[in-house]
Amino acid sequence: METRILTVNAETPDPRAIAEAASVLNAGGLVAFPTETVYGLGANALDPRAVERVFEAKGRPSHNPLIVHVEDAARAQALAGKWPESAEALARAFWPGPLTLVVPKTDRVPAVVTGGGPTVALRVPEHPVALALIRAACVPVAAPSANRSNRVSPTRATHVLKQLAGRVEMLLDGGPTHRGVESTVISLAGPCPVLLRPGPVTPSRISAVIGRLDLDPALVSGAPLPSPGMMRRHYSPRAEMRIIGTDGLRAAETAARDGRRVGLLTCRAKPGACPDLLIRMMPRDPRNYARDLYAALHELDDLEVELILVEMPPGDDDWMAVRDRLHRAAAAG
Ligand code: TXA
Ligand code: MG
Repeated sequence: METRILTVNAETPDPRAIAEAASVLNAGGLVAFPTETVYGLGANALDPRAVERVFEAKGRPSHNPLIVHVEDAARAQALAGKWPESAEALARAFWPGPLTLVVPKTDRVPAVVTGGGPTVALRVPEHPVALALIRAACVPVAAPSANRSNRVSPTRATHVLKQLAGRVEMLLDGGPTHRGVESTVISLAGPCPVLLRPGPVTPSRISAVIGRLDLDPALVSGAPLPSPGMMRRHYSPRAEMRIIGTDGLRAAETAARDGRRVGLLTCRAKPGACPDLLIRMMPRDPRNYARDLYAALHELDDLEVELILVEMPPGDDDWMAVRDRLHRAAAAG
């Protein structure tokens, strides 16, 4: 299969391109498309065979459920068996946007989408291309990140092609995504709201809307996560990755002196002279750091770096999603 690439304007996508992509979805095909977080690998969520193809293309285990993307909260509610007040309040506060809500599902959602489980993850993305595609297709769109399972998520069309060329019918290239890390995932299926995956919408902003929010125990202790997708080693580059203290430059230079090709993500080091050390200067604020993180990891991987050292970012709430992704990428195994 050849992957057709259509370049679209991120703000005002050409309706003809969107219509073509929608017809691919409606015919049971796969379309990779930009969202505000990362690129998604989309299929018609109501077509079990199309959804199976998503798992095949990604090499993803079938028990790991997908996020279903819809155009508004009313469509989300229509797929939910129960729509608690907290869901309504969060939808009103953060949709369209990088927040995913896990709620009990209805029978309309095929079991293959939810990994056989009783709940469904729902989100209304805010990227104009994603929204236009969902509207034009007139179906909910199941879309995991458009990468091979456990690899670094794509924030540019080139990242998608590296991993999925020939495995999807179409790619809408809308340029770099601006959030850079995957959506915040909250479960509203139990007695109390639980944060399953940190993301652009921080816990304090969620608590401001619904009050109490528990952290999934695994986010605290590193214990196995209830959501099968939340494996510890995830979002990983090919290179070994290690999180280090604040004097990254010295550690990286020492490692590079042993003859290894080393990459360093740092917010402060001055580029040194060591030729085997590839330094990527990262933004000092969490929002821009998140936006640039995966592109930096993809780039260092492409340069066949053996070891990537990353300076530990600050401990506050705003950096939680970045810290989470770094820890997962660095987890051994
Ligand atoms: O920003 C995002 O969320 C991107 C874009 C494309 O929307 N999508 C994304 O999908 O990151 P994916 O499949 O790579 O990650 C979805 C996460 C996984 O960790 C999965 O296990 C979890 O959400 N998830 C999905 N459905 C769930 C459910 N019913 N219960 C618990 N966790 C669920
Ligand atoms: Mg993913």
